[in-house]
Amino acid sequence: MDFVLGVDLGTSAVKVLLVNRNGEVCDEVSKSYPLIQEQAGYSEQDPEQWVEKTIEAIKQITEKIDDATSIKGMSFSGQMHGLVLLDKDRNLLRHSILWNDTRTTTECREIEERVGKEKLHSLTKNPTLEGFTLPKILWVKKHEPETYEKADIFMLPKDYLRYRLTGKVHTEYSDAAGTLLLDVAKKVWSEEVCHKAELPVDLCPPLVASHEKVGQLLPEIAQRTGLREDVPVFAGGADNACGAIGAGILQDGKTLCSIGTSGVVLSYEKDDDRDYSGNVHYFNHGDESAFYIMGVTLAAGYSLSWFKETFAPNQDFESFVKGIEVSPVGAKGLLFTPYLVGERTPYADANIRSSFIGAHDGHQLNDFCRAIIEGITFSLNESIEILRESGKEIQSIVSIGGGAKSKEWLQIQADIFNAKVIKLTSEQGPGLGAAMLAAFGIGWFSSLQECANQFVKVKEEYHPEPERVVTYQELFQLYRKVYGQTRELNEALAKFR
Ligand code: XUL
Repeated sequence: MDFVLGVDLGTSAVKVLLVNRNGEVCDEVSKSYPLIQEQAGYSEQDPEQWVEKTIEAIKQITEKIDDATSIKGMSFSGQMHGLVLLDKDRNLLRHSILWNDTRTTTECREIEERVGKEKLHSLTKNPTLEGFTLPKILWVKKHEPETYEKADIFMLPKDYLRYRLTGKVHTEYSDAAGTLLLDVAKKVWSEEVCHKAELPVDLCPPLVASHEKVGQLLPEIAQRTGLREDVPVFAGGADNACGAIGAGILQDGKTLCSIGTSGVVLSYEKDDDRDYSGNVHYFNHGDESAFYIMGVTLAAGYSLSWFKETFAPNQDFESFVKGIEVSPVGAKGLLFTPYLVGERTPYADANIRSSFIGAHDGHQLNDFCRAIIEGITFSLNESIEILRESGKEIQSIVSIGGGAKSKEWLQIQADIFNAKVIKLTSEQGPGLGAAMLAAFGIGWFSSLQECANQFVKVKEEYHPEPERVVTYQELFQLYRKVYGQTRELNEALAKFR
């Protein structure tokens, strides 16, 4: 049997999937690494850990198969936007500043002033958000000038990992789109944005397409992982682009809800000319010449894991989430807003923080867990509303990630989104999407769509239950008021963080 490897470099862990020609996930190894949070709003990681943990995970997979030459190709999916800076000898200059780091509000306003908000939007198709890469580069330039002076190139997380495995420096369009430096329609680095932001264009890595072969493994890496040296390595994509590929979001009209550390709702777009209001993201897909529009909840699964680690550290995650089944719809009048680390869609606000509204002495741990899950889903529903208001028909949504592991959460999604929710046989969207890019790249399939026909299988469908839909619509109206009514309070509290 022949296989491909899909490596998903996530925020909490790297996951490596071994996938056969039928699209079955035959093995899966995950290795975690910590966040480094030196101050409120800061979120960094040590890129060396990404490399070491990936090598360990691949080794664990190759040790279990008889013949490593049966692995015919590999590709990558990665957390988006993170800044990795290298000097001219390709040494790391500092830890990576991640997508959920919100220290760059000042730099965001400076970029808008220098480039012009409208110009920036017309070139990069995106709002200026703290999590994107360009504001991070400008932050380093201002606050760590000695580091910036030595910087010769920047990279995105999975591109750095791939560079360390192959020795070749590239990025690809789906991740480049999240830097705020790419001319998204023309698929070139924007000289105008670079010039106005006072950055040399050659700080940006060379661009390729997601399914392009970029090299093979370095001898030392082949030896350490147990892979053969000439295994072809394909560029890969941003985790949300790969999540979309892995869930078969490859045609107009297809919508995805992916809940990992962050939560996203994204919808396939064939053209680059639709105009969306609100703080939605508009990125190049891993499917060449396509795009996707996306809303992001910064702390989705993260809200849940934070709460569990803080208040129920000894309970296992599965039983903690299962507890929602004994809490009623609306969690006995408890509302949660998932703004633990600020928010992106629809409120681009780095200062807002979470609230529990309505807590009373009848509430138990299960109710808090249910309120968190409902709050995350309400937040994602705000993105769905933006898509619907722009004229998109959303009648069914594919759900992947942690949110697709619990039957009750899938039903909550169907009821809050008021749409059919589809669960696939594998909820590993990004890793599977990366494996699909390798499968397409080596020629097992003539297109990603043909690969998806083989790899992506529906397992279950969840339909909205009318009574619950009505209750959730009422609660959603209350949920929507919380942002406006807590914004000032949170601004005043910021200095105490
Ligand atoms: C998307 C975003 C997150 C990360 C998570 O814009 O910042 O979804 O990609 O890995």
